[in-house]
Amino acid sequence: MQPEVVMIGLGYIGLPTAALIASNEVNVHGVDINQHVVDTINRGEIHIVEPSLDEAVAKAVDKGYLQAATTPVEANNYLIVVPTPFKDKNEPDISFVEAATRAVLPLLKEGDLYIIESTSPVGTTEKMMEFIYENRPELKDKLFIAYCPERVLPGNVMHELVHNDRVIGGVNAASTEKAISFYSNYVKGALHPTNARTAEMCKLVENSSRDVQIAFANELSLICDKAGINVWELIELANKHPRVTILQPGCGVGGHCIAVDPYFITADFPMESQIIGKAREINNYKSFWCAEKVKTAKLQFQLKHGRKPSIAIMGLAFKPN
Ligand SMILES: NC(=O)c1ccc[n+]([C@@H]2O[C@H](COP(=O)([O-])OP(=O)(O)OC[C@H]3O[C@@H](n4cnc5c(N)ncnc54)[C@H](O)[C@@H]3O)[C@@H](O)[C@H]2O)c1
Repeated sequence: MQPEVVMIGLGYIGLPTAALIASNEVNVHGVDINQHVVDTINRGEIHIVEPSLDEAVAKAVDKGYLQAATTPVEANNYLIVVPTPFKDKNEPDISFVEAATRAVLPLLKEGDLYIIESTSPVGTTEKMMEFIYENRPELKDKLFIAYCPERVLPGNVMHELVHNDRVIGGVNAASTEKAISFYSNYVKGALHPTNARTAEMCKLVENSSRDVQIAFANELSLICDKAGINVWELIELANKHPRVTILQPGCGVGGHCIAVDPYFITADFPMESQIIGKAREINNYKSFWCAEKVKTAKLQFQLKHGRKPSIAIMGLAFKPN
């Protein structure tokens, strides 16, 4: 039977999304270029760590609603959920999105819905639309094309996929409407319509906002270290102000998204994104600053005790438990 949905990319976001859709008794054909990923899923197992995903995948595969392969097949809805890393000069690399689009290109037919979920620089959805219509001119304006970013928290993905609000932006009003109608089958959170460029920027701005706020706390910790002030006490006191909420400083910024996504703005808008760019610098620098502190403490210990200290690094996992 022809699947209803083709999911390109079966990683931290694509696989849970595929499992969620399949759990609604919708036929999903998952695609990944990694044969190990495909084989693992087809055994009803998972290759990543995410609570309750194993049960969802096992059930979906067992009931025949989810299968994986290295190549796509014809469907009515295509979701692109491949990586979007950055290149040497902190420039976004959309080659995976292009490759995934190229793979579905010959399968597309009138009335199909093509959605990009991968975090993407502004204009990517329109670029892919142009690429599709250049190569399949007979389909011009006959496809529904939209962008819908993902904002789930690893560790709570299966819950947040269903309950988070989503921002959905089509390349035109009909595409937005079609994509909203698609997600409304699986998502209980509110679905907010907009255009593709705004939806792309929305995702980037959400993580840049976090990055800037964390950079503020990290910068305070550098200032306080020099000023001989306990930054933790300072922030606790400042947060007693009814309209002030300063985050806690750390040793930089981790995770999949926050340390990456702001570059998708600074690469395209270097003159305008001064604070966003500076926040990235501060948060990157903070890691080296912390490492220097540890090195200095280590040398001081050695000088004092005549032996090397053992160093414990607490909190090496980026999420609790
Ligand atoms: N992980 C998160 O918490 C998170 C949250 C929000 C958004 N995102 C975004 O979602 C996108 C996917 O992230 P992820 O964490 O799921 O990545 P991931 O690396 O876990 O998974 C991506 C999968 O895509 C496969 N792939 C690569 N190119 C392919 C191709 N051409 N065809 C088929 N499969 C291909 C890879 O083999 C991999 O298994 C990224 O743009 C990321 O920025 C991730």
